[in-house]
Amino acid sequence: MISGRVEVGTRALMAPMVGYNEAPLRRICRRFGSGLAVTEMIKPEKLLRGDPQVLRDLDFAENERPLGIQIAVREPEDMLPALDLIWPRGFDFVDLNMGCPLKKECNKGWGAALLRDPERVGRLVGATVAASPVPVTVKVRTSYELGERSAPDVVEAAVEAGAGLICVHGRTKMGWYREQNDLSAIAAVVERVAGRVPVVGNGDVVDLESALRMFRETRCDAVMIGRGAMGNPWLFERIDRYLNRGEVLEDPSLEDVRALYEEHMDGVVEIFGEKKGFAQVRRYAFYYFGRFGLGNEWRRQIAGTKSRAALGAVLDQVGSESS
Ligand SMILES: Cc1cc2nc3c(=O)[nH]c(=O)nc-3n(C[C@H](O)[C@H](O)[C@H](O)COP(=O)(O)O)c2cc1C
Repeated sequence: MISGRVEVGTRALMAPMVGYNEAPLRRICRRFGSGLAVTEMIKPEKLLRGDPQVLRDLDFAENERPLGIQIAVREPEDMLPALDLIWPRGFDFVDLNMGCPLKKECNKGWGAALLRDPERVGRLVGATVAASPVPVTVKVRTSYELGERSAPDVVEAAVEAGAGLICVHGRTKMGWYREQNDLSAIAAVVERVAGRVPVVGNGDVVDLESALRMFRETRCDAVMIGRGAMGNPWLFERIDRYLNRGEVLEDPSLEDVRALYEEHMDGVVEIFGEKKGFAQVRRYAFYYFGRFGLGNEWRRQIAGTKSRAALGAVLDQVGSESS
């Protein structure tokens, strides 16, 4: 699939997620069949002041490509100087976040507040496209609140201004995760821009069945997966293999899962250091091993571990319980 000039190898894509999308996760998702990788949302002002955590998140390896950086949208005079620092780093595309529900973004008219202002969206996308040596993509929600359905107009404005790929999360800003993901609202966006740019459907894809439902009911070109791929990057390949060859892949074994978890831990520890890296990846244990029927007692034990060795000992028990 071609999106602008971004070559996307598969039709299942990882989602940007603050606090998760560090380089090791991006690498793993790409290797397991995500058609692209993307950073978490980066604020231009943090980039401009050289925030060390942001700079760390922007380091990448070739095997993450095609790799995009997601930017919190600002007025061009504030956003473009930050993007000037980005271009030399060699990202393959830049994604503009127009769905962030956080109050401090929306109160200033950013994030999901842009869903009420298609004219402004067109202006901001146009300014970014004009300055960008790489494709510009846009991620939206369906509207600001239920009863509105602004995504088609907003997306139309973005596409007219040169956006090369659109991703739609099927919830409103006010809905957070309480509201049902609205596939018909995603379908309305697909219908509006069909044939002009690819549209990626997002929200609640957690397995092959939910992915196929997203494709069937929205006619989207690809699905984006956030929470459902946490600890389960196998899902990308599972979806892609089924779409291409009609094959249903086996679930990974406990050994596969444990090996990948250790690899993920190694990668994060290398970047964050032992203590911080451990704390970061310990929480991933719930995602990776949840499928093996981890009960409350296991969860409590894992949450209480203070070292990698202690965590390993608890995980060894997961193995013996399920074998
Ligand atoms: C912890 C967390 C962090 C997120 N951070 C971002 C972000 O940085 N940028 C963004 O566009 N969406 C962000 N999202 C939204 C996801 O990208 C995605 O749109 C949403 O979770 C729905 O997809 P899912 O049901 O597959 O998780 C975040 C979601 C979660 C749960």
